[in-house]
Amino acid sequence: MVARVNTVAFHGIDVQTVDVQVQIANGLPAFNIVGLPDKAVAESKERVRAALHALGLSLPPKRLTVNLAPADVAKEGSHYDLPIALGLLAAMEVIPKEELEEYLVLGELSLDAGIRAVAGILPAAMHATANDNRLICPESCGGEAAWAGDLDILAPRDLLQLINHIKGTQVMGRPTATLGDQGPMMVPDMAEVKGQETAKRALEIAAAGGHNLLMIGPPGSGKSMLASCLPGILPPLSPREALEVSMIHSLAGTLPDGGLLKRRPFRDPHHSASLPALIGGGHKVKPGEISLAHNGVLFLDELPEFARATLESLRQPLETGDALVARVNNHVKYPARFQLIAAMNPCRCGHLGDADLECTKVPRCAADYQAKISGPMMDRIDMQVDVPAVKVSDLENDTPGEKSSVVAQRVQAARQIQEDRYAQYEDCGYGVNAYADGKILEDIAPLEDDARALLNKTMERAKLSARAYFRVMRVARTIADLDGGAGILTKTHIAEALSYRRVSMGS
Ligand SMILES: Nc1ncnc2c1ncn2[C@@H]1O[C@H](COP(=O)(O)OP(=O)(O)OP(=O)(O)O)[C@@H](O)[C@H]1O
Ligand SMILES: [Mg+2]
Repeated sequence: MVARVNTVAFHGIDVQTVDVQVQIANGLPAFNIVGLPDKAVAESKERVRAALHALGLSLPPKRLTVNLAPADVAKEGSHYDLPIALGLLAAMEVIPKEELEEYLVLGELSLDAGIRAVAGILPAAMHATANDNRLICPESCGGEAAWAGDLDILAPRDLLQLINHIKGTQVMGRPTATLGDQGPMMVPDMAEVKGQETAKRALEIAAAGGHNLLMIGPPGSGKSMLASCLPGILPPLSPREALEVSMIHSLAGTLPDGGLLKRRPFRDPHHSASLPALIGGGHKVKPGEISLAHNGVLFLDELPEFARATLESLRQPLETGDALVARVNNHVKYPARFQLIAAMNPCRCGHLGDADLECTKVPRCAADYQAKISGPMMDRIDMQVDVPAVKVSDLENDTPGEKSSVVAQRVQAARQIQEDRYAQYEDCGYGVNAYADGKILEDIAPLEDDARALLNKTMERAKLSARAYFRVMRVARTIADLDGGAGILTKTHIAEALSYRRVSMGS
């Protein structure tokens, strides 16, 4: 007799149904799992055997075969324990086979028959909703699964509770959707940053339009501090964005408390991060930092200290909004539409331009240091601002600066204007100016005559690339949106946007 239970396999955020077939046949006692299992799946038989033993059940001394179909798709992860155990229980006629139809089952078993949390529940639940399936998942993942729609969900604590429910002796309720508790937001307030008005304004524009920003300045001028203020002025995630980014975090196993993310991600990997850690990959092709920063911010502090190959690998995702990880037998794509915020010193000693402090190797050392960021990479950064050393008069100044909450309101208003604007372009897939392109950009950023003249003249003189030309237009659009979103872009908007491009650096 063959019992069948459905579960899933993951390819990036794509989900495929896997049919777990369990057969108990006469023959020498054996327990085999076939269908390209990885080590975690192969070890599953020990956990399943122990969990059933904990319930007072022992496996029959027969030939047990578990096939994970389709057999040519690699199966990774520990979530196959529960479907295998249920398949065995059905084959042993402990539970009726028909009861398991229509369910997708995921869960890891502990030796005492408890059901432990696994990664990827949210995408699996979305897949179940799309296919009119029901879902069985661990109790601690129930709050996450419930966001996927009004599908039937069972979230048992342990195997015994699940068996009792299936037999009808103890009925479980549906779990309720939960938001992950990400704790209080421990970020400095913009009001604590003294001086640096240009950098603060640039940060506000970047936050409003989702633009990439590079801050360049001497040590201790407040670059890292400014970047860490950013989460305090960014708007919260919209429900659609929260679902998108939570799917990725679900696969990476980084969802807080098994609930949906509510705060925009802010990822700040150390400069020693490897290429797979940043882009994605590794043994199990996990999402990288750029995908975990989807719909949020990737902050690269000390930009030139990152390995060259690692930085260059960001070029393609910065344009496409996807991270494509290619393997010999696997191509996996994760969404990676992030906003790049970076900080760097202008040279190795950090004091370029300060006659008293700069070292003797100027200007050669500055040129060498800045050359670590390639021209094409610099071209992709919409705004490049100088963050000079703080003046003593600014430090002494006790007048309180503007609070993050006030800036956040302006950012939120500008984001609302953008959201309404892009809602008119169905399926454009974005809601901020940073991604507007082609025909849409032409439509949304009409230029006054003298604004166009200024842009064209600067483009020719500074030899800006076509990419930079359009990026300036997008930043100008955001500046106008912060002004209240008047339709046409004026010379002032373009002039301010151009002031954020350091044409002397990069390409
Ligand atoms: N503009 C400022 N206003 C108030 N405090 C500041 C300012 N700039 C720097 N500080 C103080 O100096 C500390 C260090 O600043 P921060 O780490 O941001 O410098 P940095 O520009 O990132 O330097 P580095 O180039 O060495 O990384 C901050 O934690 C803060 O206490
Ligand atoms: Mg710093």
